[in-house]
Amino acid sequence: MKKIEAIVKPSKLKAIQAGLIKIGIPCMTVVPVKGVGLQQGFPEIYRGTEKSIVLLSKVMIICVVSDENLEKCIDVIIETGSEGKVGDGKIFVYDVLDAIRMRTRTRGDDAIR
Ligand SMILES: Nc1ncnc2c1ncn2[C@@H]1O[C@H](COP(=O)(O)OP(=O)(O)OP(=O)(O)O)[C@@H](O)[C@H]1O
Ligand SMILES: [Mg+2]
Repeated sequence: MKKIEAIVKPSKLKAIQAGLIKIGIPCMTVVPVKGVGLQQGFPEIYRGTEKSIVLLSKVMIICVVSDENLEKCIDVIIETGSEGKVGDGKIFVYDVLDAIRMRTRTRGDDAIR
């Protein structure tokens, strides 16, 4: 199993969620976050208020998926969440040791499908 953390533009959340549902990945956790990438918020805010320390609002979408579903999950997030511009977002991938559905004590891949 792998954990995907996709830090994306808030305006893309609905399209990404719809895309993931369409390929059979309906479970996710969404966290509002603030962050900056390489450009330190510039030029995403160059028409906005000038601030000395820039943190832009983003959403972090967390999905735990089977190894088999990893690449299609990444593809859908990129296809539905990108504009081809600076600040589109970033995806991090982690190994997951185990998952446990509390109701049934089901573990591993069976707990995430
Ligand atoms: N190395 C990192 N560590 C932790 N969070 C990061 C890192 N890089 C980016 N992020 C998070 O991802 C968000 C989106 O980053 P962003 O898309 O601007 O990445 P980038 O590397 O600057 O790429 P681009 O050149 O396309 O803008 C940031 O606002 C931040 O929250
Ligand atoms: Mg950037």
